[in-house]
Amino acid sequence: MNSFSTDWLSLREGADHRSRNSFLQEQVLKYLEQIASLKNGPLHIIDLGSGTGSNLRALAPLIHHNQKWTLIDYDPLLLQAARKTLCIWADDAIYGKAKIKSDCDSTITPVTLVKNNYEIIVHFIQRDLASDLEFTLSESADLITAAAFFDLVAFDWLEQFCKVLKTSLYTVLTYNGKETWLPSDSLDSEILEAFHFHQGRDKGFGPAAGPLALNNLELLLKIREFEVITGSSPWMLGSRDTALIKELAVGISKAVAETSLVTHEIAKKWGEQRAKSLGCEIGHDDLFARYEKN
Ligand SMILES: C[S@@+](CC[C@H](N)C(=O)[O-])C[C@H]1O[C@@H](n2cnc3c(N)ncnc32)[C@H](O)[C@@H]1O
Repeated sequence: MNSFSTDWLSLREGADHRSRNSFLQEQVLKYLEQIASLKNGPLHIIDLGSGTGSNLRALAPLIHHNQKWTLIDYDPLLLQAARKTLCIWADDAIYGKAKIKSDCDSTITPVTLVKNNYEIIVHFIQRDLASDLEFTLSESADLITAAAFFDLVAFDWLEQFCKVLKTSLYTVLTYNGKETWLPSDSLDSEILEAFHFHQGRDKGFGPAAGPLALNNLELLLKIREFEVITGSSPWMLGSRDTALIKELAVGISKAVAETSLVTHEIAKKWGEQRAKSLGCEIGHDDLFARYEKN
């Protein structure tokens, strides 16, 4: 299993939230507003690869309606951390007594949160999306969302996903492969090439689409019944992000050292220098695909 630590997810959360493309976010909020005006009951949003719930914390407070969120991740520790973090984040939390009983094998009790006077019911589902995709997408929802997830999946999985998807999709912070580090260094392009190679490794779904995922997703959805818009959401990291810059440099350096494209010495040297970098821009893209039948 390709695991993500709670420390890493927590370290990146501030940069993630401020980098989301605001135009796309407005379109998503307008869409949800329309849906809410046509239905009774909470808006239902499913978050794929939810980690500790960062995507919910970014989006839910902007939605002025009661909501039900289903957080799906294959890592039970992240889901437990999500429940704990969300209860602290909320203005109030009403703890459910019953465990979810269904074939989705969740063992984490749902919780009802109160944030800005709206109720947010949160369900936590432990599921491997590499193998259990169709069941997830068959669930009725108003929006499927994901953050920092789609670059992990394989081209075949993307095809299958788009074939089965019948709900509007909002995905943020998919890595697009563009990086600029300050000050520039002659090793940067060699390291980036090796990093892209590493990004294409199997992350549990087959060889990963990595930086090509978003473009592929866009093309596949456009030929189906979706109206698609995209927008950039780069991390612009500077003096307030020194801890994140350091972790990022260490992570990239370790990843490229695992490829045979650069030597361990070069990877180490680059990582040590970049850990002290003044700033960097890391490219991401967001996508909103509105299902025409909504
Ligand atoms: C980069 S993290 C992003 C987490 C979260 N969306 C955020 O923005 O903080 C990718 C997430 O996808 C989850 N993930 C990876 N492969 C998965 C799979 N096959 N099934 C379900 N979740 C998966 C990981 O456990 C992790 O939480």
